[in-house]
Amino acid sequence: MNIQDIIANKRDGKKLNADEIKYFVEEYTKGNITDYQAAALIMAIYINGMDKDETTLLTLEMAKSGDILDLSTISDNVVDKHSTGGVGDKITIILMPIIASLGIPVAKMSGRGLGFTGGTIDKLESIPGYRTEIKVEDFIKEVKKIGISIIGQTANLAPADKKIYALRDTISCVGSMPLIASSIMSKKIAAGANKIVLDVTVGRGAFMKNKEDAIKLSNMMKSIGSLANRETVCVLTNMDEPVGYAIGNSLEIIEAIECLKGNIPEDIKEIITTIGSYIIKLAGKGDNLNDNKLKILENINNGKAFDKFLELVQNQGGNIEYVKNVEKFEKAKYILPVTSKEEGYVYKLNAEKVGKISVDLGAGRLRKEDSIDKAVGIVLNKKIADKINKGDILAFIYANNKQKGEKAVEELLNAYEIVKEPVKKEEIILGIV
Ligand code: URA
Repeated sequence: MNIQDIIANKRDGKKLNADEIKYFVEEYTKGNITDYQAAALIMAIYINGMDKDETTLLTLEMAKSGDILDLSTISDNVVDKHSTGGVGDKITIILMPIIASLGIPVAKMSGRGLGFTGGTIDKLESIPGYRTEIKVEDFIKEVKKIGISIIGQTANLAPADKKIYALRDTISCVGSMPLIASSIMSKKIAAGANKIVLDVTVGRGAFMKNKEDAIKLSNMMKSIGSLANRETVCVLTNMDEPVGYAIGNSLEIIEAIECLKGNIPEDIKEIITTIGSYIIKLAGKGDNLNDNKLKILENINNGKAFDKFLELVQNQGGNIEYVKNVEKFEKAKYILPVTSKEEGYVYKLNAEKVGKISVDLGAGRLRKEDSIDKAVGIVLNKKIADKINKGDILAFIYANNKQKGEKAVEELLNAYEIVKEPVKKEEIILGIV
């Protein structure tokens, strides 16, 4: 068997067999297949797709490419959460400390930015000192000690996904159903939790642009989960516009901290209460979803969730003075207002465009080896359905390069669509699969 034949088969639209998929995953992980050969195969998969059997085989091979963790010493029911990606998506950073504050262990491995979407690990690293690379034994110890740890995917956890994920990001091959399903489920299977709640984002700022595709992806991931004995629930959430108001690494951490202090935008509140209510249910800590939502809000209001976040940051070496006083975060050099030239109501705010503007400002990567600028990004002032007067500030651009900042102002203005008639707010939770 050789990689050229496998690439040719997928290029010609053929179905790959188990041996071909195993060969590709094993040899690419070992470094015996080059990045350009892997890129050709990934592009062929992106264009020609994979059926359910191929996707399942790819997922299981990727999960087996490294360690499979055993979290059973933490609890009988360990619940994991993952998002298919979005713009301004800081849900993990807000929700997981809340869940831990309710006595449910959180052992969470998160990813870096992908395409026009941000990544939890890049965001957490904007807290000075916060360590995201921790050995598995220590990760489990931390969860036993304080009930929560959020780290990056360890070197030997689904290493095949690690390589393919970084490659996809830079060859415009992210938005593919079999590649997303295998990427997420391989990591979730390897990460050891026996229950999984997935935030499947839908809309302009998501990889699944419509509900039908999101349901298909959800069913694919659920069926892979059940084959691997992982009970999986998918919550479909609206990603037409960004989540919350901040986009960019430290800007999103600041917003997450504000949420944990009780200042939560409505969309974030709906997402964390819905996803959180399923996490609590799967953890065996409450069957009534409405009661679970109340428990979440209660632990925000009584400060327990914020205290748990402080404990998490301190335990992972982060400087908690930044969490206590967000003014300490380094500010971008230029903070430029985006001003409306018309009046009316916001009809659309294209989240994908917003994500790309943020990446261009330096908040994301254009090449695998790029570093990112933690301080840059966007803070929205107006979102869908908001009333606008001429001269109102729609958003602020945070830039460290004046030219890039000015370009971003123009582009963000174009991401807004303003109409004369009042607009209805869109639904946030679009379904449960
Ligand atoms: N999140 C992942 O972990 N992988 C993807 O492919 C998309 C989102």
